[in-house]
Amino acid sequence: MSYLRSTVVMKILFGTTLTFSLLFLALNANAQDGKALFNAKCAACHQVFKNSTGPALGGMEERGPWSDRKKLYAWIHNPAAFMENDPYTKGLKDSHNGILMPGFADLSEGDIDAIVDYVNTTFAAGPGGGAKPAGGEAAAPAPKTDNTLLYGILTLVLAIIALTLLQINSRLRRMSDDKEGAESVEPVPFYRNKLYIALGIIALFLVGGYYTIQGAVGLGLHQNYEPEQPIFYSHQVHAGINQISCLYCHGGAQEGKSANIPAVNVCMNCHMAINEYTQGPELFRTDGSKVDGTAEIQKLYSYAGWDPDKKQYTGEGKPIEWTRVHNLPDHVYFNHSQHVVVGQQQCQTCHGNITEMDEVYQFAELSMGWCVNCHRNTKVQFTDNKFYSIYEKFHDDIKNKKIDSVTVEMIGGIECQKCHY
Ligand code: HEC
Ligand code: HEC
Ligand code: HEC
Ligand code: HEC
Ligand code: HEC
Ligand code: HEC
Repeated sequence: MSYLRSTVVMKILFGTTLTFSLLFLALNANAQDGKALFNAKCAACHQVFKNSTGPALGGMEERGPWSDRKKLYAWIHNPAAFMENDPYTKGLKDSHNGILMPGFADLSEGDIDAIVDYVNTTFAAGPGGGAKPAGGEAAAPAPKTDNTLLYGILTLVLAIIALTLLQINSRLRRMSDDKEGAESVEPVPFYRNKLYIALGIIALFLVGGYYTIQGAVGLGLHQNYEPEQPIFYSHQVHAGINQISCLYCHGGAQEGKSANIPAVNVCMNCHMAINEYTQGPELFRTDGSKVDGTAEIQKLYSYAGWDPDKKQYTGEGKPIEWTRVHNLPDHVYFNHSQHVVVGQQQCQTCHGNITEMDEVYQFAELSMGWCVNCHRNTKVQFTDNKFYSIYEKFHDDIKNKKIDSVTVEMIGGIECQKCHY
């Protein structure tokens, strides 16, 4: 009887596990496709959280006719035709400088579903969910989806199945022993069985160890960190559109260890004259709220202690307290000039596409692995670089064709004391 009941339980268990796994795989595959499609087809004009050329797509199903998926298909397949009979999208076009969204007749309904799924999951994760505005920053590492919980549940279900199987096995053996009249040993209950206890402890160790290591490694790492700054200062407007050289403001990156943040008077070199923000593009915070550039320049004046009407300093200025984005722990030594001048590395390699960012965020992981990997893989410009004239042996080896290049590692770039005080 109990044997029968067990088979039923087993069937249910197997069924649930299978359904869970399939559902989970399907969902995940869909979000993956959606992301690739979104990046390929939509990201040029749309972001999830911010308006860009087109409106932010996060939460779109709550707007206009988009709760009706059929209408969304029709819109994406042919916006011009859809707009004819739809006042909502017509109005939308007028508020987007008359730019009409192109049609995507090649996208199947399944493709569009996948894009919507991706947008919805990214939106639900929130701006801090690791998702970065797209466009130009496509090189930024993909946000990680956290499946740990699901894997955990699956593992648990599987473990229960395994235990049930073992129990059934021993019960069956007992039944057959009973039938043959053989003497059977009273089975030990499973919570006192040494094998189970040992397995349990090992599992606990594995799980505990995993989380401890994850926690320790992640400690102090803030990839994608994007603090709100006292003034909405856009790198895209300055270093991108107006092409002001990075070194105009961050000259330290060439001259020394620290790249430095410019003082207010550097800003005032230009802003004594420029008191309005009139050029496009419209500026938005990550939460989607609009920024009034002219009002931000006014904030700059109050920090500088500048009276824009009288065009003179009042003497009541105070330094702008920018929030640091990048911050290595104190035990690590990093020198900009060594990388920018000697190593000839581009700012963008480590800081991402700053010229397309409004607010700066931490592009790279800044972990030890990140530094060391680059040192392992990067070849230094060894010839014609006066900084490397002291490495006679390598120069000889190159001349004798024993080696064809020198990596940072070979000149000592992964020795602990080079990076650690
Ligand atoms: C060339 C730029 C461009 C591309 C590429 C683009 N869109 Fe658009 N999209 C727009 C513009 C602009 C609007 C605003 C309406 C208008 O002016 O046509 C818009 C509006 C929308 C809307 C309505 C949003 C709202 O707030 O109601 C949706 C939904 C949409 N687009 C989805 C997509 C999807 C999905 C893709 C990718 C398959 C895509 N768009 C690709 C420019 C674009
Ligand atoms: C007109 C001055 C100016 C120019 C030009 C400029 N920046 Fe900046 N930069 C700033 C200011 C002010 C901050 C501090 C506010 C912030 O983080 O957005 C800053 C912050 C940064 C940060 C983050 C610093 C931190 O706190 O960790 C990086 C990285 C950076 N800039 C790189 C660049 C690069 C690369 C360029 C050239 C493509 C550039 N900047 C051009 C003024 C400038
Ligand atoms: C080399 C000249 C130059 C320097 C230096 C400069 N700016 Fe600007 N800034 C501009 C120009 C050009 C614009 C765009 C004005 C327009 O719309 O016509 C601008 C726009 C702005 C805006 C409005 C758009 C936005 O980014 O929000 C703010 C705020 C601003 N600057 C702050 C600063 C701050 C803070 C500094 C110092 C860290 C600084 N600027 C240094 C030239 C400069
Ligand atoms: C090899 C990677 C790398 C390159 C190349 C690089 N940076 Fe950095 N940058 C960093 C790291 C790492 C930090 C954090 C330093 C710290 O916390 O001590 C940083 C910090 C900064 C800061 C914050 C202030 C400071 O110095 O701590 C600014 C501004 C900055 N970088 C600008 C630039 C500019 C401009 C360039 C190009 C001229 C550049 N960086 C090139 C890795 C790099
Ligand atoms: C994009 C590649 C890249 C990354 C990322 C990078 N470095 Fe480097 N690093 C270089 C290059 C190239 C050199 C060679 C310059 C030289 O010869 O001094 C170098 C040299 C150094 C040196 C001098 C090594 C020596 O033997 O003299 C130190 C110290 C250093 N890096 C620290 C760091 C730290 C700390 C980080 C991470 C926060 C880091 N680097 C990240 C490319 C990189
Ligand atoms: C190229 C530069 C570089 C070299 C070489 C390097 N480290 Fe690090 N190390 C770092 C950076 C950057 C961090 C900070 C990472 C962070 O914030 O988690 C770090 C962190 C650490 C930490 C703190 C633990 C942690 O993850 O925060 C220890 C311990 C450490 N390093 C030991 C070593 C030892 C031992 C060596 C030699 C085998 C070494 N490092 C070589 C750059 C380097």
